Amino acid sequence: MSSKGYRLIQEKNAIDEVFTHHHDKDLGFSKRRQLVSGIVSITLAMSLAANAFFIISHFLHRPHEISSNRTAFASLERNKQIAWTDDSGFASHNRTIWDQAWGTLNPDTGFVAISDDFALRTGLHESQRWPWDSSKGLYLLQGYHNLHCLTILRTSLTEMHDEKPQSLHFTHINHCLDGLRQEIICNADDTPRYSGLDQKMGTGNGQYRMCKDWKKLEEWANSHSACYKYKHGVETIEGGIPLDRFKHCPDGSKPWIESSNKD
Ligand SMILES: *[C@@H]1O[C@H](CO)[C@@H](O)[C@H](O)[C@H]1NC(C)=O
Ligand SMILES: *[C@@H]1O[C@H](CO)[C@@H](O)[C@H](O)[C@H]1NC(C)=O
Repeated sequence: MSSKGYRLIQEKNAIDEVFTHHHDKDLGFSKRRQLVSGIVSITLAMSLAANAFFIISHFLHRPHEISSNRTAFASLERNKQIAWTDDSGFASHNRTIWDQAWGTLNPDTGFVAISDDFALRTGLHESQRWPWDSSKGLYLLQGYHNLHCLTILRTSLTEMHDEKPQSLHFTHINHCLDGLRQEIICNADDTPRYSGLDQKMGTGNGQYRMCKDWKKLEEWANSHSACYKYKHGVETIEGGIPLDRFKHCPDGSKPWIESSNKD
């Protein structure tokens, strides 16, 4: 384990090292992937010769291909009914309440450490290593990346509204704006929002639709936590991200101690 700072991301024009992807020099995962696909090919060839039916049933039973309405990773279902609202603290005109509401969001929760076994099984892209266990990749869950982007946009808008200087690079804001656009397009939400009647303004107020359960996503994120916590006011750091940022496990565990004991 390297004792130097953990290099998360340093790209040209990178404004937020945490959320820009740095391609890890550690090719262990690629090699494993090659090895696994090599083994799979040989196995398949032998199986073909021996028993074509075996191959068919083998493919039919790959876990991530079992037909269901659950998501592939945290196994979420679209089974939670939630109504659209304009009345939450997130839309409050009282600045204190508004700030408090937005302050409850924590995009860092979305940093997870996922085992290569799980990644291979689910067809996930390889990822840079989690510092405390080289058999795990560091990933950021999409829902949390979306939240991060929203908070970035809100910060920028608030600074503009308060006539304060912009603390974020415009490139970062633009990255987030486009990220959310892609998210919307990808989801292609076909729910028709009702209009008119007696709602104060807009469409869809109080209308129910089926959602995935964010609490369940949070539980899954915590149970796979990368123990990451961002330090405010430090966007880029020479020489990489301090390992200290990965010492905030929600369950109080200390994987860095277990990790150094193994050496
Ligand atoms: C998935 O959802 C659809 C529509 O709600 C339903 O008809 C179907 O039976 C579900 N499939 C599974 C495997 O649960
Ligand atoms: C805003 O909300 C806070 C906290 O609930 C409250 O103390 C304060 O009086 C409110 N301000 C206004 C202007 O309503």
